[in-house]
Amino acid sequence: MKIVVVGASGLIGAKTTERLRKKGHEVVPASRSSGVNTITGEGLATALKGADVVLDVSNSPSFEDKAVMEFFDASTRNLLAAGATAGVKHHVALGVVGTEELQGSGYFRAKLVQENLIKSGGIPYTIVQATQFFEFIGGIAQAGAAGDTVQVSTAYMQPIAADDVADAVSAICLEPPINGTIEIAGPERFRQNEIVEMYLRAIGDSRPVVGSEDASYFGVKLAEQSLVPGANGRASSTKFDKWLKASLGLLIAICLSFVSSVVHAQVKWINADYTAEPPCGGGMRLAMAEKSNDMTHAQMILHIRAANEVAKEWKTFGHHPFGAVLVGPDNQQILMKQGNISVVRHAETELARRAAEAYGSGYLSKCTLVTTMEPCVMCSGNIYFANIGKVVFGATEEALGKLTGTSKMNPTMNLPCRQVFDAGQKSIQVTGPFPELEEELIEPHKGFWK
Ligand SMILES: NC(=O)c1ccc[n+]([C@@H]2O[C@H](COP(=O)([O-])OP(=O)(O)OC[C@H]3O[C@@H](n4cnc5c(N)ncnc54)[C@H](OP(=O)(O)O)[C@@H]3O)[C@@H](O)[C@H]2O)c1
Ligand SMILES: [Zn+2]
Repeated sequence: MKIVVVGASGLIGAKTTERLRKKGHEVVPASRSSGVNTITGEGLATALKGADVVLDVSNSPSFEDKAVMEFFDASTRNLLAAGATAGVKHHVALGVVGTEELQGSGYFRAKLVQENLIKSGGIPYTIVQATQFFEFIGGIAQAGAAGDTVQVSTAYMQPIAADDVADAVSAICLEPPINGTIEIAGPERFRQNEIVEMYLRAIGDSRPVVGSEDASYFGVKLAEQSLVPGANGRASSTKFDKWLKASLGLLIAICLSFVSSVVHAQVKWINADYTAEPPCGGGMRLAMAEKSNDMTHAQMILHIRAANEVAKEWKTFGHHPFGAVLVGPDNQQILMKQGNISVVRHAETELARRAAEAYGSGYLSKCTLVTTMEPCVMCSGNIYFANIGKVVFGATEEALGKLTGTSKMNPTMNLPCRQVFDAGQKSIQVTGPFPELEEELIEPHKGFWK
């Protein structure tokens, strides 16, 4: 089958592309980064030629009311017109559970326009409405930030792992169109304030979470059940605690008992076709919050310390004491951790390679690689080609050189990463060094280099 994935460089797009390819289908990735623009129509006819299925998992680059409406309206019209010309047999699109009830929000008004265009567009279709991705909980917390507290709704949520969304959506692409809507959700129900609190505690954020039934959810006051699926919703298998554990590693142990005490409902799989996949590494999405924002100084310190913990942990296994972490676009969630493997597999190089394999390049442009020591020229090159947008480092390569000296174990160079990035064709935002952290970053290196 030939399947065009619109938004293939995004969180769900990259995961569905991988799944459908593994099943042996011809998958055409379509997004601006691969030369297809659904707004201008560039590349659309060529991409859709001979396609059986169009899967639309794109999202608007801007969430401002007018911009998001223009995006979903124009993009959906263009996709349907090109699909009709190409003889597409099934149009599958990803929507959000509760869209009809959330019309106080510009984003959901645009999502409803998208759905209505599809319903009246003449191409057989399936709309898959998903609940909030686990990867989006940080975005909800960020949107609710008010002074030193986080204020969110007490309404119920039944969030789902992005990996489970990708499983469900890719399976639906291979089924006949139903000309209707399928709701998918996670296996557990939480109150929004409870899950936000669990998430924040897990990432070491101690801000009090204040739950209120009047709190706004992206401009809308939620009813208790606004965000949860109806009786026919399909539930996936990955539980929040498992996902947290996989995503955040050690930090999580503390919140597990809390998680199990606030689960309100268990929902069984309705469709046995969806297999339970291991919990995802997860990419943080900020579907409705500002997509590109700056990491605060406090967040940088927190993440550099997390990278230093990785360095210390890997040292205990006999590796060189370097560590790096990949932080999602919400500047909070640690998506991946990596220690040093060998003289050619530095922590940052290895992390950038793993990130490039796991996530789309568009998504990585909004992520930050945080490392204890300034990336060397080899690592900077990998960060550049992986399209990671931002770098934060603790101590300079020059300071590291003083520690490693002439040790053959690490023949440190002195070529600032900014100089390497400056030679490239795109800008990478670099922050560092942090002299106030130098002492603690040097600690694991003391007596190590011979
Ligand atoms: N976040 C949640 O909790 C949640 C829950 C339920 C449903 N959803 C829905 O899931 C869908 C996918 O979300 P996501 O988080 O995976 O999206 P995402 O990571 O933000 O990816 C968006 C994709 O759209 C592409 N795109 C943007 N403008 C384009 C254009 N003019 N032409 C072609 N492609 C374009 C981007 O690629 P380029 O930049 O390369 O163009 C990217 O591949 C959204 O429709 C959202 O409403 C989200
Ligand atoms: Zn390096």
